[in-house]
Amino acid sequence: MAKERGRPRTSTVLWDGVQRLLRGEEGGDAAGAPRSVVDLGGGTGGLAVRVAALGHEVVVVDPSPDALAALERRTAEAGLAGRVRAVQGDATELADLLPAGSADVLLCHGVLEVVDDPAAALRAAHATLRPGGRLSLLVAQWPATVLARVLAGQLPQALHALSGTGHRWSGTDPLRRRFDLASATGLAEAAGFTVTDVEGTRTFSELVPAACTESEEDAALLRELEARAARSPELLALAGHLHLHARR
Ligand SMILES: C[S@@+](CC[C@H](N)C(=O)[O-])C[C@H]1O[C@@H](n2cnc3c(N)ncnc32)[C@H](O)[C@@H]1O
Repeated sequence: MAKERGRPRTSTVLWDGVQRLLRGEEGGDAAGAPRSVVDLGGGTGGLAVRVAALGHEVVVVDPSPDALAALERRTAEAGLAGRVRAVQGDATELADLLPAGSADVLLCHGVLEVVDDPAAALRAAHATLRPGGRLSLLVAQWPATVLARVLAGQLPQALHALSGTGHRWSGTDPLRRRFDLASATGLAEAAGFTVTDVEGTRTFSELVPAACTESEEDAALLRELEARAARSPELLALAGHLHLHARR
């Protein structure tokens, strides 16, 4: 694993969880079999390339031509162009872009926060998965944003995030909404999914001063803290993101 100093850019908890989901460890699928994966709103493909490098076929669906161009450069550089396909489109167009019931695993990370209609996006995700297929859903949590803004001394933004519509920290917040365990689980279940596991990611990474994790030893301690917090019922509400595993 690449050494990460300071605040880690990628969450080890998240990547471990995605790999577990791909291996089908929670559902008795053929462990380690190559999966047909859709990365909805996969952007520039940071996750798609890592998934493809494990041997899976990945289709990235994203409305941004710039993101998809960056994705194509990235996959070519990684020698994975044959295993990652870029499709330009919107979550609600999934039915027109990909055959229904065709995906083993669908990744939807950081997308429900920005789309017009999160419920419609999840219904489309459900229809794209085969029966028994898996959803990896990552959403930003609002309590973590409130806490981070308070710690940064940005009290008006903290209050806005706590009490405003969608838990945005202001009208210029790039996210249209944030979630919590009840709202994220409720949306997934309303779309027809059964939630099988939930982990908290980035519980401390955004809070710890970067200078405190410069040494390898401290970075390892932070990873250990994150791993333990991920499954702590008490700390789940404070995690920056929730990673839901769900089954169609
Ligand atoms: C915060 S980025 C997340 C990127 C990537 N999934 C990740 O985890 O790093 C949000 C992504 O959602 C895409 N997006 C925005 N609106 C969308 C829509 N209606 N349907 C699908 N993707 C959308 C954006 O282009 C962007 O790539």
